[in-house]
Amino acid sequence: MVIAGGSGFLGRALARYVAAPAQGAWDVIILSRSAPSMPTPARWVQWDGVRQGAWARELNGAQAVVNLAGRTVNCRYTAQNMLDIYTSRLLSTRALGRAIQEAAQPPHVWLNSSTATFYRDARDHAQTEAAGDIGSGFSVDVARRWEAALMEEELPQTRRVALRTAMVYGVGAGGVMQTTDAVVRLGGAGAMAGGGQYVSWIHERDFCRAIEFLIEHDLAGGVNVSAPEPLPNREFLRGYRAAWGVPLGIPSTAGLIGLGARVMKSEAELLLKSRWVTPERLLKAGFVFEFPQWAGAIAELVHTARAEGHAQR
Ligand SMILES: NC(=O)c1ccc[n+]([C@@H]2O[C@H](COP(=O)([O-])OP(=O)(O)OC[C@H]3O[C@@H](n4cnc5c(N)ncnc54)[C@H](OP(=O)(O)O)[C@@H]3O)[C@@H](O)[C@H]2O)c1
Repeated sequence: MVIAGGSGFLGRALARYVAAPAQGAWDVIILSRSAPSMPTPARWVQWDGVRQGAWARELNGAQAVVNLAGRTVNCRYTAQNMLDIYTSRLLSTRALGRAIQEAAQPPHVWLNSSTATFYRDARDHAQTEAAGDIGSGFSVDVARRWEAALMEEELPQTRRVALRTAMVYGVGAGGVMQTTDAVVRLGGAGAMAGGGQYVSWIHERDFCRAIEFLIEHDLAGGVNVSAPEPLPNREFLRGYRAAWGVPLGIPSTAGLIGLGARVMKSEAELLLKSRWVTPERLLKAGFVFEFPQWAGAIAELVHTARAEGHAQR
């Protein structure tokens, strides 16, 4: 398995998962622009995410390619950051497409990251792959172009899947829990802007299991990779507080969230957009979630975080 952009939070989690004997001890290659910063059960190969190079040979004969490269969206949307958000995703996807096209033995499957933000702000009904509406604005445009880049080349021997992934919750460096845990434990995680906006989420382990499932099953095109039970922000945070045993969470207005996002060098959209996304295609294909409900998922994650003492991994 070749994981492009595999040095990040999800890539390391996936490498640990598939390299384990229980999952068949996959031989994992991580494509990264830099040297490993922490031990990961994978062979590290350098690429620049743009040009063809020696790295392209790793794709020849690979079983699966998973592309997770992309500058984080957790930043202010300045012109430079927006450009980096586009180019890191589009150019890396195109580079992989060209390498797969030129491979003598192309990989059987190419899973490319996309995002559950692909859909509109939804407060009326869940967005499935068949009945969802594409949204508008910067983040949605990134997602649409990202998925279009995945489909640019003629690749008759390679099945392609766009991973419309919701926020992935897992313990460890670089994950969304790192900052959210601190806010929850300090009592700052009450309902945000009324708390009616939906939160779509997935447990890290189910994300890795879904990747494994999508490699083994014959699905192609856009697939929602999110837990089957998204919930409104106020209930999501109530569950989060309960798992940490924090009785109080101070609510905040949209104005305050905007201000906080500026201070944290982030964007309010990440907290205020209603992401009501459900994994219809995965469920229909027979995928069984280990953590379908938020209460169980966050209880297990907090338990792990406590046991590991937030050890780096
Ligand atoms: N985490 C989530 O909850 C979530 C949810 C939905 C979608 N996603 C998407 O899934 C992907 C992986 O997420 P993550 O949480 O693992 O992110 P991450 O920890 O920020 O890792 C992203 C990886 O992208 C690579 N990268 C950054 N800028 C790049 C550039 N200009 N060119 C090529 N590679 C670049 C980095 O690799 P090197 O620096 O080593 O080259 C890094 O390891 C991202 O595309 C993200 O948008 C994540």
